[in-house]
Amino acid sequence: MRLNENTVIFGDRVILVPYRAEHVPTYHEWMKSPELLELTASEPLSYEEELEMQRKWHLDDDKLTFILLAQPETSTSTSTSNILEPSEIKECKMVGDVNLFLPDGITGQGECEIMIASKEDRRKGYAIEALSLFLSYLTITLPFDPSQLIARIGSPNKPSIRLFQKLGFGIIKHVKVFDEVELNYGVEDDKEIPSEIGLDVDINKKVDWINRSLEGRLGKYD
Ligand SMILES: CC(C)(COP(=O)(O)OP(=O)(O)OC[C@H]1O[C@@H](n2cnc3c(N)ncnc32)[C@H](O)[C@@H]1OP(=O)(O)O)[C@@H](O)C(=O)NCCC(=O)NCCS
Repeated sequence: MRLNENTVIFGDRVILVPYRAEHVPTYHEWMKSPELLELTASEPLSYEEELEMQRKWHLDDDKLTFILLAQPETSTSTSTSNILEPSEIKECKMVGDVNLFLPDGITGQGECEIMIASKEDRRKGYAIEALSLFLSYLTITLPFDPSQLIARIGSPNKPSIRLFQKLGFGIIKHVKVFDEVELNYGVEDDKEIPSEIGLDVDINKKVDWINRSLEGRLGKYD
């Protein structure tokens, strides 16, 4: 989707930038990992296919995606805020991606996915901040009704299920043939499914991204 083709969102830990051809070499390297292919239910692609995919993510109306960059630990920016200069953004390390797929258009369900590619970059709070900003952005800008947001996650992928629960998604379906659960924003967990898939009771404190303002966090990507 072209909506975010020049949009940057500055978080405290992550920066969301549009997925451009310049990101494909790193993305392609990441997606050689059998672990990531399985966890994201993706097929291995050749470099040319990955480039074509990047083009589709940019242009197709049913897809919205951002690449995630890590905010430098000590910014060289003269500003005290998290807003970086374009040249500084280009120096930031790529850590993952976040996206929304709208198979039935803007009035249907929107499937969210996120990936923090390298194990060394996980558990640093990148995913929770990136999703909070991404969900705020799309519900405000598209705009998209939060109740239409879903996530489909393999039942063994407890980190990802926990992440979406923390963002206010509840487990509503267990699709046993695919060993996959479906979560929907704004609903309670089904009573049976968590124990069926071996998930402890969710005692996570929820993150209220709905009321998160993007004021002062948006910039233009060259
Ligand atoms: C799932 C994934 C995106 C989490 O990213 P992350 O940056 O490590 O997550 P965060 O540090 O922001 O953690 C946020 C919350 O997610 C949950 N979480 C993340 N990793 C977890 C883990 N290993 N075990 C349990 N809960 C976990 C927790 O609720 C955590 O909150 P807490 O730190 O207060 O406990 C990351 O592990 C990943 O990319 N995995 C591979 C790809 C994948 O599975 N994608 C999901 C497909 S939809």
